[in-house]
Parts: sequence; C-alpha cells; structure tokens
Amino acid sequence: MKHSNIFRSKLYLGVVLVSVTLLTIAYYLMPFPSLTVTKGTNSVIASKGFWTINSIGRLGNQMGEYATLYALAKLNGKQGYIPQSMANYLSPIFRINLPTLHESMWKRLHWKNYHLNDWMEDRYRHIPGDYEILREFTFHDYLIDEANTFLRSISKGQDKVTYVAVHVRRGDYVHTMPNIWKGVVADKGYLEKAMSYFRKKYSNVVFVVTSEGMDWCKDNIDASKGDVHFSGDGQSGSPARDFSLLAHCNHTIMTIGTFGIWAAYLAGGETIYLSNYTLPDSPFLKLFKYEAAFLPEWIGIPADLSPVLLTKP
Ligand SMILES: *[C@@H]1O[C@H](CO)[C@@H](O)[C@H](O)[C@H]1NC(C)=O
Ligand SMILES: *[C@@H]1O[C@H](CO)[C@@H](O)[C@H](O)[C@H]1NC(C)=O
Repeated sequence: MKHSNIFRSKLYLGVVLVSVTLLTIAYYLMPFPSLTVTKGTNSVIASKGFWTINSIGRLGNQMGEYATLYALAKLNGKQGYIPQSMANYLSPIFRINLPTLHESMWKRLHWKNYHLNDWMEDRYRHIPGDYEILREFTFHDYLIDEANTFLRSISKGQDKVTYVAVHVRRGDYVHTMPNIWKGVVADKGYLEKAMSYFRKKYSNVVFVVTSEGMDWCKDNIDASKGDVHFSGDGQSGSPARDFSLLAHCNHTIMTIGTFGIWAAYLAGGETIYLSNYTLPDSPFLKLFKYEAAFLPEWIGIPADLSPVLLTKP
C-alpha cells in the first residue's frame, strides 16, 4: 500500500458528507452517509467542546464518517469521540485512535447539530498537519497476514505479480440505482474494459474479485484466462477480510459505493471507476459529486445508460 498520494491529495475529506436534511429519506440508498457533526456544550467533559458524528451505513460509510469527524475535529481544535456503533465496525479492523463516547454521555450533554455537504468545500481544505487519515486506517496485523497469505497463494509462485482488486457492488443498488436514482450499476462491458486495461499494461496480472453478488460475478466475469480469482471461493466473504484483501492489491477496479472508493484510496495504485452512471437529471447528483469522491488521476469509464434510457416514459 502506498499512502503518500492520498496524503497529498487533500481530497479525503470531500467524500463523506451529505446534507443532513436527507437523513431520513436517504438512509440506505445513498453511496455516502448522512451525518451530523455534534458539539457538546454542557458538562465538565464538554467544557472545552467535543464532537461526535452520526454512525450510519456499513463499512465504507463508517470510514467516511470517521474520516470527516477526525479531520473536522482536528481542524477546529476539538476532541473527536466516536459512537459505540462506529467502534463496533472499525476497531476490529483498524488501529483507530479516536476514543469511543460512552452511552451515558449522550444524555448528559447538550448537543448542537451541524449540517455537512457531500463534497469538499474550500474552508475544509487547509487542515494543519500532514495527511494522516490513512494512518488511522492501519489494519490490524491479523488482517495484513491473512491478505498477504491469500495473495501469495494465488501468485502460482511467480515473482512480480500485479494484483488488481475488483470490487463489484451489487446488493440493494441493483434495484435502487434504476428505480430511485435513474442510474445503472456496473455491467459486464464495463468490467471487461477495465480488466483489459490492466491486462495490456502489466504482465502477470491477477484479478481478485470481491462482491456481495458473487453469482452474478461468476456469470459475467470471464475467468477462462486463468487470471481471475473469486475471493472466499466465490462466497461473499466477511466485509473486513474482503476490504483488507482489496486494499492490499496494487491497483483497483471499483464499481460504485464507498466500500470500493475507500479500498482504492488505501490501495493507492491506479484506479478505474464507473463514471456518469445516472441520467443528468438524477436526484443522485444533488448528493454526490464525482469530482469530490474520485481522485483526479483515477480513470473513469462512462457507464452504458441504455437500460435506464429505454425504460424512460
Ligand atoms: C503489489 O502488491 C503486493 C501485495 O500487497 C506487494 O507485495 C508488492 O510489493 C506490490 N507491488 C508493487 C510494485 O507495489
Ligand atoms: C461524464 O460527463 C461529463 C459531462 O457530460 C463529461 O464532462 C465527462 O467527461 C464524463 N466522464 C467520463 C469519464 O466520460
């Protein structure tokens, strides 16, 4: 994993914020979490002011919320505390440093809510210190060992293998993308283009596929060249294990969703992402800005929108 690029990019903060007014309607559907920064103003512990953040969604969203809190609290000279439910997601995987807010404190403090948007704002840009958020997402040793053991086992004893992580987001998005967001998920054609980019550019490429829709992947990803490995023997693995595996690869093919975006940030190599995957009038674009989530050097492949164009009344 190469961390230096992301430390320089300053973009990490922009990927995680969604206007809190959307909290109730958009809960499961959004790629990015709805959240609130909350500031304690009353009681001894809060006398200097401390901040916490909503804990919503699964691993990728939780990472985004954590990163946002970490950066904003630091920028403002406050202590950040994470909710217990966020610790439950993150502390088994990463050596995170922010302390957990005990349940009893929620009631004892008076909170003030702040709204955050889903994109980078200029006033967030100048955070003192170096870009350390990826250090917060340092894996525990057992996950590092597991990932390296797996990657070695599929290298067939060759030196200089180039590992390309492929994360295929399916699950609820298969329905919500066309039905709610006027968009599409990644299709077979996208994955073929992205994989052929890496096959042409590197020798000894090995693709490591993780997905919550492994059956679809096995039907739609051509493994006949012998360079494709479905993680967990084709069963959906644990999120922690899958995430660590993706992040330990050299390059990333992501589809959509925060899980893949964070895996690509941590992997630090070349990244190919699905771009323009909604119609231009999609409500999704009010919440999500491509340029805030994807690093400038990443390569976008525009989605084939014909399935949603055809179903338009
Ligand atoms: C590619 O990834 C493997 C596994 O993490 C690592 O051992 C190797 O050094 C990486 N190769 C390059 C060129 O970064
Ligand atoms: C996505 O659409 C925008 C606006 O039409 C365009 O400028 C951009 O190049 C497209 N991105 C890709 C990767 O094709």
